[in-house]
Amino acid sequence: MLSVENITVCYGQMKALREVSLEVSTGQMVALIGANGSGKSTLINAISGLVPIAGGEITWEGQTLKGLTPDNICREGIIQVPEGRKLFPAMTVEENLIMGAYHPNVRKQAQESLQKVFSTFPRIADRRRQFAGSLSGGEQQMVALGRALMAKPRLLMLDEPSLGLSPKAAAEIFDIIRGLNKEGMTILLVSQEVMQTLAITTYGYVLENGVLALKDSCDRLLEDPKVKTSYLGL
Ligand SMILES: Nc1ncnc2c1ncn2[C@@H]1O[C@H](COP(=O)(O)OP(=O)(O)OP(=O)(O)O)[C@@H](O)[C@H]1O
Ligand SMILES: [Mg+2]
Repeated sequence: MLSVENITVCYGQMKALREVSLEVSTGQMVALIGANGSGKSTLINAISGLVPIAGGEITWEGQTLKGLTPDNICREGIIQVPEGRKLFPAMTVEENLIMGAYHPNVRKQAQESLQKVFSTFPRIADRRRQFAGSLSGGEQQMVALGRALMAKPRLLMLDEPSLGLSPKAAAEIFDIIRGLNKEGMTILLVSQEVMQTLAITTYGYVLENGVLALKDSCDRLLEDPKVKTSYLGL
């Protein structure tokens, strides 16, 4: 289980997160929603150890992540698919995927993992020798997801996996995410596609200007007047 307890993150004088708490239990898929600039990516980056926390604590399976570097945190199985995918455009699909299995504890199984990723995403298997930069947005997102799976995540954090995708490609990605969770993957899903996100998750958190504004089961969030007006445009 991941437990974020009252964390504060500052960029210089600006507090991007103020005493934010969140939990993701094993096997659960949790939603994190909020407007642009509310601090969603900052929270994911804090969990990954990419931005320092100024207060509070993050624990994983009961152990603090304090003092761990991002690569130590990856080694714990906490893996993110970053906003904007961050592929290596001049490397092939296969080379990008192999980069996901960089850590020695997953490297030995890289070929086996690669076959598994290709069976999950047949479309990118057909394009394995193509440069990642030449793929469509939806295919690139599949490579980014596949690269994360190569690291054998125990917690998968997805930052805006449907950003910039057509409704059809976005629906395909959401189906894949739901399938991964059904197979037992623990997931923290950040998305502005609030309706689709709350439809596939069980519990959700709403960030507003760096502060946790709401947390509830997704069924109740979908009925919440604030969520309806601010995020669902109803
Ligand atoms: N590296 C940084 N240096 C300074 N300020 C930053 C940095 N990264 C983010 N911020 C600021 O922190 C706030 C939260 O940003 P963050 O990227 O976490 O929001 P977000 O909810 O992910 O937004 P979006 O939906 O647009 O991706 C914003 O005001 C942003 O300008
Ligand atoms: Mg973001």
